[in-house]
Amino acid sequence: MARRILASLTMLSGLLASSGGSRAWAQATSPSPPAGQGLHSLFVASGKLFFGTATDTNNINDVPYQAIATNQSEFGMIVPENSQKWEAVQPTLRQFVYNNSDVVASRAKANRQLFRCHTLTWHSQLPQFVSTTSWTRATLTAAIQAHIANVVGHFKGQCYSWDVVNEALADNGTFRNDVFLQTLGTDYLGISFTAAAAADPDTKLYYNDFNLETIKAKADGAVAIVKILQSANVRIDGVGFQAHFNVGQTPNKTSLVATMERFTSLGLDVTLSELDIAHTKLPATPSALEQQSRDYVSAVDACLAVPKCVGITVWQFTDKYSWIPSTFPGKGDACLFTANYTKKPAYFAVSNLLVQAAAAQVQAGGTSAPASASPTAITAKGLGNFLLPLVGNGFGMFLI
Ligand code: XIL
Repeated sequence: MARRILASLTMLSGLLASSGGSRAWAQATSPSPPAGQGLHSLFVASGKLFFGTATDTNNINDVPYQAIATNQSEFGMIVPENSQKWEAVQPTLRQFVYNNSDVVASRAKANRQLFRCHTLTWHSQLPQFVSTTSWTRATLTAAIQAHIANVVGHFKGQCYSWDVVNEALADNGTFRNDVFLQTLGTDYLGISFTAAAAADPDTKLYYNDFNLETIKAKADGAVAIVKILQSANVRIDGVGFQAHFNVGQTPNKTSLVATMERFTSLGLDVTLSELDIAHTKLPATPSALEQQSRDYVSAVDACLAVPKCVGITVWQFTDKYSWIPSTFPGKGDACLFTANYTKKPAYFAVSNLLVQAAAAQVQAGGTSAPASASPTAITAKGLGNFLLPLVGNGFGMFLI
C-alpha cells in the first residue's frame, strides 16, 4: 500500500511540477489529465464520495454516450433524469410502473456506480390525478404515503440517497403554492420525509432545490425547512444544491462555501446535485469557454473545500442531451462534453483541479476512506453497500 501511495504521489507531483503546482493551473487550457483517471476516480482520491451524472433510458442505444456514462472512472454515480418522477412511476392512481427506472438502477449496479434517486414530492412532472383531484388533508396524506412507500420500497437497498422533497420554495423564500402546500400546509414535508425513512432506513434523505446558491432569501427558506424537520425529530440527512448556473454568473467559491456551511453546520451533508453551467449567448466564444471553465472550477472547488460536501452530479455530461436548450431557449452548451463527445476546456479545468486536490490528499496522508463518507448516516450496512464500488472504481484505480 505504501509503495502504491508513493507511486501515486510521484505521478501527481510530477504533474504538479510540470504545471507550476498552483491552482491557477486548473484553469489552464492545455489538456493533460492523467491517462485513465476520470473525474470520479480523481474526486474519490480527493476525499469525496462520487462524481456522477444524470442519465436515463432515452440514450440507451447511443453507443458513444454509453461508453462514457458507464465508465466508472468518469462517473461513479448515476441518477435517473426523469424516470423516477411521480408521473413516470405512478402515472395513474395505484398503478406503478418501474420499467425505465429499473433499467437505470440495474445499469448502476452492473457498472458498480452509486445510485442517487430522484424525486418524490415535487410540484412538477406530477400525473394528472395528483394535480386535479380535490384532495382533503387525509386523502392527500394517504396518497403521498402510498406513493413514497411503494417507490422507496421498490428501490430499497439500491439508493445511496433520495431527493425526498424537491423545489418546495419560491425564489423569494416563501413556500411554493402547490397542491401539497394548499392541502397540507408545511406538514407535507414531515409526511414525506417520515414515509421515506420508514420505507428505506438506510438511504439518505435530501431536500433539493435551485437558486439556494444565489438567493439568500431562498437559502433562508431551506434552512427553515431543515429546522421544521429537525425540531419535529424527522430525519433529514442532506441538502442538494441543484447548481444550474449561467456562464459568468456562477457564484464564486467563497460564497458557495458559505452557503453550503449554513447547512453543514446544522449537521447535514450537502451536494451539488444537478450541476450545469449554460452559455447565455451562442455560439460560445473562446473567452466564454474559458469563463465556463472558471465557473466549473469555482463550483467543484467549493465542494472540495467543504468536508461534508459528499459529491457532485452533473445534469447530463454532453450538450447532446442537456435539458437546457429546450427549457431555456437561447441558452445552452452547459455540459462538460460537446454534443460530439469532445471534452471541453471546462472538463480539463475540472480534471486538472482534481489532480491537484488528489495530490494534496495524498500528501496529507489521506487513505481510501473518503473524508466525507464517514460522517452522518452511512450506516454499517449502507457503508458495506457503497464501499465496493468505491474500491472498485475510485481510489483503487487511482492507486497505480
Ligand atoms: C428536468 C429534466 O432534465 C428534463 O428532461 C425534464 O423535461 C424536466 O426536468 N430540477 C430538477 C430536475 O430537479 O428534475 C429537472 O430535470 C431540472 C430542474
